[in-house]
Amino acid sequence: MTQTGVDHPFPDHLFLVGCGNMAGQMLSRWLDCGLDRERVTVLRPSGRPVTDGVAVMTDYPAALPAGTTVLLGMKPYQIADVAVALAPLCVADTRIVSILAGTTLADLRARFPVARDIVRAMPNLPVGLGEGVTALFTDDVTSAQAKMDVAALIEPLGLVEWIADEALFNQVTALSGCGPAFLFRFVDALAQAGEAIGIPADQAARMALATVQGSANMAARANDGPGVLADRVASPGGMTREGLNALDADDRLLTLLIDTLAAARDRGEAMARGA
Ligand SMILES: NC(=O)c1ccc[n+]([C@@H]2O[C@H](COP(=O)([O-])OP(=O)(O)OC[C@H]3O[C@@H](n4cnc5c(N)ncnc54)[C@H](OP(=O)(O)O)[C@@H]3O)[C@@H](O)[C@H]2O)c1
Repeated sequence: MTQTGVDHPFPDHLFLVGCGNMAGQMLSRWLDCGLDRERVTVLRPSGRPVTDGVAVMTDYPAALPAGTTVLLGMKPYQIADVAVALAPLCVADTRIVSILAGTTLADLRARFPVARDIVRAMPNLPVGLGEGVTALFTDDVTSAQAKMDVAALIEPLGLVEWIADEALFNQVTALSGCGPAFLFRFVDALAQAGEAIGIPADQAARMALATVQGSANMAARANDGPGVLADRVASPGGMTREGLNALDADDRLLTLLIDTLAAARDRGEAMARGA
C-alpha cells in the first residue's frame, strides 16, 4: 500500500464512495500532500467533477484495482445500497475506511465479509487544512500493517487518535466531530458579547476570531494545559480574573459544555437505534 516518491504513504488506489463536504475535504488535503490524481477514483451519483485529473464515475466499475483502499464517504443510510454494489468488488486486500457516523464495525464486517481490513474513522472539517482531528477504531481482524497504513493515510489530515472502545465513538464524535460547529458558535457569541458592551460589530467579529485563533495556537505550543494558562493570565483583582469569575460561577461554562456534548452523544445513540 505505498506509492513511492511521495512524503506520505498513500494507497496504490483510492476509491471514494461519495465525495461531499467531508470526503471532499479529506481528498483535497491528500492531493495537496502529493496523492497522485491518477490513483484516485470518485463515485458520486451526480457525476460532478471533483478536480482536474481525478476520475469521477456515476456507477461502479467492473473491478477495483489491486491494493485499493475504499473510503465510504456517503450518508450512513445509503450503506445498504452501496454494500450491495460494492461488496462483490471487494477482494481480500481491499481496505475499507468508513467515515459513516453510527455505522458499527460489526455492521461493516457483515456487509463486506471478504475485506479483512476495515477501519472506522471520524474526521472533522478542518482536515482539509491538515488541522483536523480524526478518531480511528478497528478490531483485531484488521492486520497490524493495515492499521499502520491507515494511520499514515490519515496523518496528513491532522491529529489522529485511536479509540480503544467503539462504544466511545458517539462521545468522540460529539467532541471533535461536532466540535467545529460548537467553536463557530462560541466565536460568534464572543463577537456578539463584544458588540453588546459597545464594540462596533465588524470589529468585534474580527477581534473575536483572531483572539480564538491566536489563543488556540498559543495553547497548542505551550507546555502547560489551557486551564493553567487561563489562571496564569488572570492576576488577582485584575480584569481577566473578574471575567473568569463570571465564566466559572457555578461551573456554568463547564455545565453548558457537558450538556452540549451529552445532547450530541445522545442524538448519535438514537440515530444508531434508527430513531
Ligand atoms: N460533515 C461532517 O462534519 C462529518 C463529520 C464526520 C463524519 N461525517 C460523515 O461523512 C459522511 C458524508 O457526510 P457529508 O456531510 O460529506 O455529506 P454530503 O456532503 O451530503 O456528501 C454525500 C456524498 O455522498 C454521495 N452520494 C449520495 N448518494 C450516494 C449513493 N447512493 N452512493 C454513493 N454515493 C452517494 C453524494 O454524491 P453527489 O456529490 O453526487 O451528490 C455526495 O458526494 C456521512 O456518513 C457523515 O456521517 C461527516
